[in-house]
Amino acid sequence: MKRLEGKTALITGAARGIGLSFAQAYLREGAQVALADIDIARARAEAARLGDAAFAVEMDVTQQPSIDAAVDATVARFGQIDILINNAAIFTAAPIVEITRDDYARCFEINVAGSLFTLQAVAKHMISRGQGGKIINMASQAGRRGEALVAVYCASKAAIISLTQSAGLDLIRHGINVNAIAPGVVDGAHWDGVDAFFAKYEGKAPGQKKREVGAAVPYGRMGQAADLTGMAVFLASAEADYIVAQTYNVDGGQWMS
Ligand SMILES: NC(=O)c1ccc[n+]([C@@H]2O[C@H](COP(=O)([O-])OP(=O)(O)OC[C@H]3O[C@@H](n4cnc5c(N)ncnc54)[C@H](O)[C@@H]3O)[C@@H](O)[C@H]2O)c1
Repeated sequence: MKRLEGKTALITGAARGIGLSFAQAYLREGAQVALADIDIARARAEAARLGDAAFAVEMDVTQQPSIDAAVDATVARFGQIDILINNAAIFTAAPIVEITRDDYARCFEINVAGSLFTLQAVAKHMISRGQGGKIINMASQAGRRGEALVAVYCASKAAIISLTQSAGLDLIRHGINVNAIAPGVVDGAHWDGVDAFFAKYEGKAPGQKKREVGAAVPYGRMGQAADLTGMAVFLASAEADYIVAQTYNVDGGQWMS
């Protein structure tokens, strides 16, 4: 039996990468999925490929009216939201002495405020509906410890782990489970940007940082988006009903090494 039959999910940042992979996995498990993204052209193209159970919705997680409109549009289309994945985020990096207020504000506005206020909007819908729900936040191994050149992004992901704890403890009385996934290094456009950053600051050749981090993962390679979907399906399913306020590493053993 499909594990998310009859469920509907809103996934932010679902036009590409990990969010898109989550959307595909949820559809395979029988859910209907709203692919929310600031890049609506790409979200529409992917939703069209995925079929009638997928729906693209424009959403900028830094704008409250955009969050509210995307939640409303998803409810109008599917009648309800059972699952939210707060996946949209950006990466940023700089040595401490080069961090700018603008870059800090943009990263926290998208990664932290965006996740919090999307979670809030969906939680209000779930509470008024009275049937609980599942909320999954995307943290990172970067939220588990600081990194010399990645202070702002690391702090934003540490905030996600903390928000997951607070929201998880607050919302479970409404039957809403809030948990998080902390990936290690996952190949894709996001990591192309990370690689370019390290090429600039550590004088590495393009692709070198990726090869190094992949080789350092105990499993033996970088993660792929598909490596995370098992946890995302599990946390959205009834099997995870008793799991509250947790952040799970899915990282090929990287955090332990
Ligand atoms: N790739 C990794 O190695 C890695 C590791 C740990 C955690 N993560 C986390 O996993 C999540 C997904 O990562 P990814 O690699 O797929 O990233 P990605 O950059 O490939 O995709 C992010 C998506 O978010 C969208 N987005 C950006 N700003 C937005 C906004 N203001 N409103 C709505 N959508 C917006 C983008 O258009 C894009 O489609 C992120 O939270 C990321 O921090 C990724």
